Amino acid sequence: MKSYISQKVSDNMMRDKIMTNLFYQPSTRTSASFQAAMHKLGGKVLSFNEINYSSVAKGEDLEDTLNTLKQYSDLIVLRHPDITSTQVASKIKDVSIINAGNGTGEHPTQALLDLYTIKNEIKKDAPTITFFGDLKYSRTVHSLLDITDKYYNNKCKRNFVSNGDFQIDDKYFRYGDLVTNKLTKNIFENTDVLYVTRLQKEYITNNTQMEYTVTPDLMSKFNNDMILMHPFPRVWEIDKKVDNDPRAKYFDQIKNGLLVRMTLISKLLV
Ligand code: NCD
Repeated sequence: MKSYISQKVSDNMMRDKIMTNLFYQPSTRTSASFQAAMHKLGGKVLSFNEINYSSVAKGEDLEDTLNTLKQYSDLIVLRHPDITSTQVASKIKDVSIINAGNGTGEHPTQALLDLYTIKNEIKKDAPTITFFGDLKYSRTVHSLLDITDKYYNNKCKRNFVSNGDFQIDDKYFRYGDLVTNKLTKNIFENTDVLYVTRLQKEYITNNTQMEYTVTPDLMSKFNNDMILMHPFPRVWEIDKKVDNDPRAKYFDQIKNGLLVRMTLISKLLV
């Protein structure tokens, strides 16, 4: 990807293009990296991060909003709390729309940058990935499962570590997966990627909780050549004392997000 960007991408290739960021849910990294990517390619950006100051607050539906914004845009980056928002978006013609997160469903561009990070760090035919935290509502987990299945031909071993309220949905389960509520010796010894997520409290309707924090002590139980990932934002799932551990790759993920999104925009709009 770095060579694609240095050889094929120029800083004015999006000179005449406008990208619209339409975010119905909070975002720091996804929104900022799409904007930074478009700026680096020489394009312009319209930003709707405060959707309550748009006509959405007057009751305009998603279809009308998209059909309006496409009149000014070559590309729309959409984040929406409804899982079905992708179905509405797929019916809009004459504009490219990128899914930047649809409720508890998918987050495909995060999966691209997560896969890119794994590929850079773990040189194995099929890494063992341990998913830890809220696996039920985390769209980044769902999309990473999908993309790693495609890229590694269903060969990755997956461990799903969570409690009953936040465990992975049965539809993602396949033969050979380990579903458990605690980290075990077998998991410590065999994990290549520990992928941690926060509790997605915006989707939790009852008082269910789960407590888990990755500390230096916990990290000492894993192999030296594994990596620790998190899509961020982190709340309390990873102790900041872990940040200096060379296995912590969450800031690399954030950096890779820019490269991935520059590549994606340039491939979509050229
Ligand atoms: C994630 C998201 O929005 O799904 N963040 C991101 O895009 N980097 C993860 C999260 O909010 O927990």
